[in-house]
Amino acid sequence: MAHRELLTRHRSVMPKWLALYYEQPIEFASASGRRVTDREGRTYLDFFAGILTNAIGYDVAEISDAVRSQIDTGVLHSSTLYLIQSQVELAEKIAELSGIPDAKVFFTNSGTEANETALMLATQRRRSEQVLALRNSYHGRAFATVGITGIRGWSASALSPVKVSWVHGGYRYRSPFRDLSDADYVRACVADLREIIETTTAGDVACMIVEPIQGVGGFATPPDGLFGELKKVLDEYGILLVSDEVQTGWGRTGEHFWGIQAHGVVPDAITFAKGLGNGLAIGGVVARPDLMDCLGANSISTFGGNPLATAGALASLNYLLEHDLQANAADLGARLLDGLRAVARAHPVVGDVRGKGLMIALELVGPDGAPHPAAAAALLEETRERGLLVGKGGLYGNVIRLAPPMTLTRAEADEALEILTQSIEAVAKEVQQR
Ligand SMILES: Cc1ncc(COP(=O)(O)O)c(C=O)c1O
Repeated sequence: MAHRELLTRHRSVMPKWLALYYEQPIEFASASGRRVTDREGRTYLDFFAGILTNAIGYDVAEISDAVRSQIDTGVLHSSTLYLIQSQVELAEKIAELSGIPDAKVFFTNSGTEANETALMLATQRRRSEQVLALRNSYHGRAFATVGITGIRGWSASALSPVKVSWVHGGYRYRSPFRDLSDADYVRACVADLREIIETTTAGDVACMIVEPIQGVGGFATPPDGLFGELKKVLDEYGILLVSDEVQTGWGRTGEHFWGIQAHGVVPDAITFAKGLGNGLAIGGVVARPDLMDCLGANSISTFGGNPLATAGALASLNYLLEHDLQANAADLGARLLDGLRAVARAHPVVGDVRGKGLMIALELVGPDGAPHPAAAAALLEETRERGLLVGKGGLYGNVIRLAPPMTLTRAEADEALEILTQSIEAVAKEVQQR
């Protein structure tokens, strides 16, 4: 009842393009660990973590204490006109973790602003408005970032300050190169990149931006090494590489701290957001110093890197490193992937199981292999019915995304696997009966 009434008010005052999950949307009233309780008293295991943002989980004492002590100083905000100790300390940590020599950091409030900043830096540095992006990409909701979004369902406007050329490689499952070996797939993408640069650009491209695993695009995971090979071509033309780690950063992929590290390459800039603040609004760019310092005018973010967000983010990053959550993501991610691959073998409605660490996707397909968004919608409802929250995505809206807090326990992983197994069986039956 509480949800229904709030939904009516939501619909009348919020934009119609602001999508809500579930036929009967829910509000989180309280949460702890990896579980959330809704306004009507139902508790769920959360496998989407506020879109990969509650990376450590809910009600984490170390983070709440850090935020509380900042509140207790009376300074919630000062602006970038003044020194902020937690901001500098966080920047130093991220610069070191980035692997970019002598890196510098600029903080924003979101992933969109982080990518807008990276695009501004690259286009200024190279004095070019040309950008290369991957098909099936998502980088944010402002003009430049919508301009480089390669998913029709998230392309709200055609207006763009950048000129984009689209490159193959991120989304292998529906790629024309899908049946090639890993090595040949990489070779085909390298040839495509070279042809795109030579035939669709004026040659002096500013940068290429990539998600190491495409998030909104359905956790599309290219073969390791792909971006390293693409970077060799970019280097021939002096084109910068920006790695959008808004979803793949902070060890979520398990094997590496940044998703791009699976490709044996250090990018010129990394953009980040989501998991860093464990729910506090913070994002940013870490980049080569010549790139970061290339702007010839003042540029600030009033709220970016504010004392509250950076105090919380610092506590969150320390927690993540001290508890080696990356190793936990690798361990439990492998367990989930194995379990889900076994379920998928028995149910052809699951056409693909992919991902790394705690970033796992199920692509749902019809008998002919075509995208099956209705099956994904049904799986979202079936899992919720059984007490598990998951995400949805993909170019065709037919992908289920699993990305729990990285503090997940083995028992919780097994619980989710059991619910997913039952839910996939139910959806497979529904699809057959149609
Ligand atoms: C890879 C990636 N980049 C950028 C963004 C935009 O981040 P925000 O929604 O914080 O603006 C998102 C959001 O989902 C994302 O997944």
